[in-house]
Amino acid sequence: MTLTDSQVYLHRVEKRLDEALTNTKAPKTLIDSMRYSTLSGGKRIRALLVYASGIITGAKLEALDTIAAAIECIHAYSLIHDDLPAMDDDELRRGKPTNHIKYGEATAILAGDALQTLAFELILSMESDLRDYQVRLIGLEIAKASGAAGMVGGQMLDIEATNKVLERAQLERVHRCKTGALILAATRAGALAGDLNNKEQISALELYAANIGLAFQVIDDILDIESSTEILGKPSGSDLELKKSTYPALLGLQESKQLAENLYLQAMDCVSTIGDNTDQTQGSGLSMLNAIAELIIKRTH
Ligand code: IPE
Ligand code: IPE
Ligand code: MG
Ligand code: MG
Ligand code: MG
Repeated sequence: MTLTDSQVYLHRVEKRLDEALTNTKAPKTLIDSMRYSTLSGGKRIRALLVYASGIITGAKLEALDTIAAAIECIHAYSLIHDDLPAMDDDELRRGKPTNHIKYGEATAILAGDALQTLAFELILSMESDLRDYQVRLIGLEIAKASGAAGMVGGQMLDIEATNKVLERAQLERVHRCKTGALILAATRAGALAGDLNNKEQISALELYAANIGLAFQVIDDILDIESSTEILGKPSGSDLELKKSTYPALLGLQESKQLAENLYLQAMDCVSTIGDNTDQTQGSGLSMLNAIAELIIKRTH
């Protein structure tokens, strides 16, 4: 299966998000603001990872819909807060005004808060044939990856690293936390909805995700320099302006590109180790993993 075929999964997760965000009891402006940041674009890489890894471990698609929607809620919340004046102070996201520009800062903060809790509401109220302990493991995975030792912690490190020259290991920690953690969680959470007995398969999926998670942010840093605002749909040069610690700032563009390529190749190696003894359905999950890795490395926005 190619990434073009994955349109069907994009449609599935968007349908689940749409259902979850049709809450007539919530204040209309808040729901509008939450929908604005979840249902209007985005590459949905994390959702696709949920489906790909879940397909490989034999999970049911209905459970993956909910997990993918929950992960996209956390991702959208992280972007809304990342763009706020107190953080990166950006005014454009996915080619449109950022949430706080459109709805105001207070609503944007609340929309982020509510998307975060919605993610866990979705997981905990999931109607599926998953066992209770699987639901617990999936919830815990997402909580840890998005919290103080994961994405939020990474954002803290990113702020503290502003205007500083970090050592390579320190910069890797920032990137693995702020971006890598949720990418790893998406992959693990999808896998946890399937057969948990194949430990080698799950380890290979984790290693794949760790590699593409770091590659993702290295490429994001490169694109901030090399691409245009028009193509990115978010302001290019934002990192330079804010004096952020990035891979190109530390290693230069060429070495950063080489690093991203090496991480991509390592991720592809992980996929090939899962490749033996798979049936046709699992095979389509593996092709998706390859396509996602390629998308991450070759993307222009
Ligand atoms: C942007 O993530 C934020 C980072 C972690 C660098 P994406 O590039 O996946 O954002 P969308 O969802 O596709 O807009
Ligand atoms: C964002 O990193 C990471 C998270 C949102 C957690 P960036 O600040 O580099 O992301 P962009 O470039 O604004 O999308
Ligand atoms: Mg940021
Ligand atoms: Mg930013
Ligand atoms: Mg960036």
